[in-house]
Amino acid sequence: MKKILITGGAGYIGSHTAVELWNAGLEPIILDDLSNSHAQVLQRLKEITGKSFSFYKGDCNDRVVLDQISREHDIAGVIHFAAFKAVGESTIKPLDYYKNNLGSLLVLLEYMRDKGIKDLVFSSSCTVYGQPDQLPVTETTPRKEAESPYGNTKKIGEDILLDYVKSKPGIRIIALRYFNPVGAHPSGKIGELPIGIPQNLVPFITQTAAGIREKLVVFGDDYDTSDGSCIRDYIHVVDLANAHGKALAYLFSQELNFFDVFNVGTGKGNTVLEVIRSFESVTGLKLNYEIGPRRAGDVIKTWADTRKINNVLGWHAKYTLDDCMRDSWRWQQTLTSKDLPT
Ligand code: NAD
Ligand code: WQD
Repeated sequence: MKKILITGGAGYIGSHTAVELWNAGLEPIILDDLSNSHAQVLQRLKEITGKSFSFYKGDCNDRVVLDQISREHDIAGVIHFAAFKAVGESTIKPLDYYKNNLGSLLVLLEYMRDKGIKDLVFSSSCTVYGQPDQLPVTETTPRKEAESPYGNTKKIGEDILLDYVKSKPGIRIIALRYFNPVGAHPSGKIGELPIGIPQNLVPFITQTAAGIREKLVVFGDDYDTSDGSCIRDYIHVVDLANAHGKALAYLFSQELNFFDVFNVGTGKGNTVLEVIRSFESVTGLKLNYEIGPRRAGDVIKTWADTRKINNVLGWHAKYTLDDCMRDSWRWQQTLTSKDLPT
């Protein structure tokens, strides 16, 4: 069984990817400094898969821990999730974001070069497109100037990878541009652990329904959309996780010095009010929300053209928005009942 190093593998998307890799016949080896996750996730992964994954608590910027992993495992490929991801915080601590998100990428590339590891999947984001001029967004849609240091780390990260591949180092790389990951594992055992007040829509909805937040404010209903609220492409985290296994399988079959990017979304946009209605219909709850002012700098509408990933990687999103809401709510209820810290 091929062993895949997952940096940031205890986090939201990384933990779901560990499960999906295992289901696809690949063995995850997890590296995480637990700066935004909890060690209890490892036990949850064992409950889901029946397998105790190798786990290293360490910083991806630390070459010593990476070398230790390679002494103990024959690593066939890497998925690089480890990064800070809070957009607002990145404007307050830009250096922390550039250092962690880009420093870890550089250390990882040098490590892969020295150990002869050839395959890398990089977590990029639809944030690189900003507010696109054309919809749906294809992979050739021009990237826009980043709105935040966080977004810039994704854009620069992609540029570093492309420049590196052009130097013909004998590596193969896919950057996956995630749209809006939501939902949780259907088992209710793993999901997103937002720290403090959630900045993202779905955790804010579920915390409001759970009584942790008083009400959700919808950031504007006077945009040029069907109901006036903003549009996003919400992708279930299990579908997203599954795309990483497909990306690796594809990389393994390519010539060396390969680089490509793929959108990962459903291909469908939903407004904020549609998300709320979906949540209310699957849970039977009435959400306390009100329409508020627009959020400065918000993207008005974006959703993915998924034909490339559908056709080239043979990947398709299976879960619906209702599934996303059902699984997010199940996860929220386990959080409010005890165990994992919020
Ligand atoms: P997350 O914070 O849940 O997971 C990231 C994990 O990386 C955490 O467990 C954290 O402890 C760990 N980590 C951070 N820096 C590290 C370091 N230097 N060394 C080792 N571990 C480190 O975030 P997520 O939502 O799972 O995001 C995963 C990746 O996907 C990130 O690169 C993020 O930028 C990207 N992404 C996320 C979204 C989203 O909306 N969640 C959208 C697009 C892209
Ligand atoms: C979704 C929609 C809000 C909260 C983030 C990151 C971006 C990328 C994708 C990582 C918007 C509305 C939200 C609330 C609301 N992530 N909303 N009330 O804006 O797509 O961006 O995820 O790479 O970098 O910034 O996601 O969840 O913040 O917002 O009305 O309390 O929900 O206006 O339309 P977004 P989001």
